[in-house]
Amino acid sequence: MYDEDLRPQKELVLCEDGTNTLYSKEFDEPYHSTKDGALHESLEKHVKPAFALKKNQETLVILDICFGLGYNTFATLYYIKKQQLKTQVHILSPEFDEGLVRSLDTFAFPSEFESIKDIIKAVSSDLYYEDEQFKIEILLGDARKSIPKIKEKVDIIYQDAFSPAHNPLLWTKEHFSDIRAISDNAAILTTYSTAAAIRLGLYENGFYIFVHRAEMMRYSTVASLQMLDSLEYIDMELKKIRNPKAQSMRDKDYLISKHSKKEMTD
Ligand SMILES: C[S@@+](CC[C@H](N)C(=O)[O-])C[C@H]1O[C@@H](n2cnc3c(N)ncnc32)[C@H](O)[C@@H]1O
Repeated sequence: MYDEDLRPQKELVLCEDGTNTLYSKEFDEPYHSTKDGALHESLEKHVKPAFALKKNQETLVILDICFGLGYNTFATLYYIKKQQLKTQVHILSPEFDEGLVRSLDTFAFPSEFESIKDIIKAVSSDLYYEDEQFKIEILLGDARKSIPKIKEKVDIIYQDAFSPAHNPLLWTKEHFSDIRAISDNAAILTTYSTAAAIRLGLYENGFYIFVHRAEMMRYSTVASLQMLDSLEYIDMELKKIRNPKAQSMRDKDYLISKHSKKEMTD
């Protein structure tokens, strides 16, 4: 039922790394950068930078915003298994498109996910999975409502909504404030966005801002509640002086139309 009802809203797209993603007609945007590639982007912009900083922690709580095709969640499991890490991971992932999640058991994922295909099946049918090492929970509904209800302290946030222009309410200062409220004091956040407005929204909530560079990939952003020595630091006070018109995004500018478009300055 879900496939037939919702798949027409989405088209299958082959990315340059050979992995599949979808194009959302509703958001007028692909779920991943087709140039960077779904799996490649997930590993290089989110999983690897996060685990480079957190791999020595025995337990990790990860907030994956939002689940979509689940690449970030599944690439995390793939990476942990490949690296033979013992880390116990609890992933919480908001998503309002239940039909999409339920259709994932038939999605053509890359061969790298072969070893976790039973987990993908379970998440797709139950929106939940748990074993001795991994716990995955899909938080069905609007992320802005589910995030403030999270009781766990979060160590890693994958901020991977559609773009600020198409999905603005998941990029505002208030959204980042909700994230800050449930974050551990040493939490880090990874995101593909490098826009000044987004970095400011994070900075105004106490995050230090860093550049993350990976091979064959546009640079991205890592934000951290603690100063990090291993990454290239961005002095946001200096950025504000150089770019006095830059402002963080605010809920009030977007609440009338949830999917309203507003041009961003990079
Ligand atoms: C760019 S995709 C996420 C891709 C995903 N991280 C992956 O690796 O496949 C954005 C997702 O956010 C979901 N979404 C957008 N706004 C939302 C909201 N307010 N609450 C919950 N989910 C939302 C969309 O349905 C879509 O699945």
